[in-house]
Amino acid sequence: MDFGAPHSAISSPAQVTLLREDLDRQGKRLVFTNGCFDLLHAGHVRYLAEARALGDALVVALNSDASVRELKGPSRPVNTEEDRAEILKALRSVDAVCVFHQPRVTGLIEQIRPHIYAKGGDYTIASLNPEERGALEAVGARIEILALVPGRSTTATIKRMGEARGPEEKTAPKLRIGVLGSGEGSNFQAILEAVQGGGLQAEITCVISDHGESGIMKAAQAAGLPAFFVDPGPNPLRFPDSAQKEVCEHLKRASVDMVVLAGFMRVLREPTLSEFADRIINVHPSLLPKFKGSNAVQRAIDAGELETGATVHLVTAEVDGGRILGQAVVPIHIGDTPAVLHERIKREEHKLLPRILSEWKPSSMATCP
Ligand code: GRF
Repeated sequence: MDFGAPHSAISSPAQVTLLREDLDRQGKRLVFTNGCFDLLHAGHVRYLAEARALGDALVVALNSDASVRELKGPSRPVNTEEDRAEILKALRSVDAVCVFHQPRVTGLIEQIRPHIYAKGGDYTIASLNPEERGALEAVGARIEILALVPGRSTTATIKRMGEARGPEEKTAPKLRIGVLGSGEGSNFQAILEAVQGGGLQAEITCVISDHGESGIMKAAQAAGLPAFFVDPGPNPLRFPDSAQKEVCEHLKRASVDMVVLAGFMRVLREPTLSEFADRIINVHPSLLPKFKGSNAVQRAIDAGELETGATVHLVTAEVDGGRILGQAVVPIHIGDTPAVLHERIKREEHKLLPRILSEWKPSSMATCP
């Protein structure tokens, strides 16, 4: 599956600069506009077609996810920058899409040096940001204010969507889950099947792995879910600060309500522990507090236990030490190998984990910071 396809919709500023230079040579003009374009509606489509008609090619500078959040608040964007770019790029009027990460688009204007700058009619030339206007004047861009299409706006779309929701959806918003895993991904698969079967009112909005080729990554990609590889670096025992931050960014960008560690073989630390405090759970193959840490299945056999099991617990800074939310007991049979016993434990995990998730109430989130 070509999961990387959406990324190809984003052009680098250098590529767009080449496009502008090419147009220059042909005596043609590049039009430039910018915005969030979160939920594309007919107003956007008409605006972009009009902007494109001002010149010979149109580049859209798209606010990154972080800058949309800064402008519009934590519930936005609804769609990721990759998706927004892919949708825009599919329009006949759009020749290139660039993403910018700063609150202002000044840097891109200076680099690309467009011939024409188009802006929607909610602005006047006088109300343009002075810094952006200064940059436009410095590069000699002509500024064109285009009339907005009445009644078409993202805010109006979101309002209509709210009105169109059924009463059940209105009272029970779906839990947005981020899943982290390193291995086979059978627990992820169990959650996915519970979601797809309707037993779990949730959606998996983000899957993260420290192994690009792991079973969980492949299963997430096959299901068409956003799946991200976070490079753990060379040391198998470490998960460096940069990777910890990247994990947290992915989870925030996917607006997850809760995080599930389903066979994630790294220790999750800050900033995720604070950002999602009391909203991170882990599944562990033992009856905690017994056999915390690695090789829990092997150690239960070696200790001569008659039974072991699976535990779902909250994740805190103490490895496998957070509050226990549910457990399932599994017998240990004479002659069990760790692999055979682990498979028996996993069968219980696959029931326990979706059950704990389905019992997780949005009200339990309200008590969290
Ligand atoms: C599970 O047994 C879980 O308890 C442990 O890692 C295993 C992950 O298995 N933390 P899978 O990748 O979900 O198949």
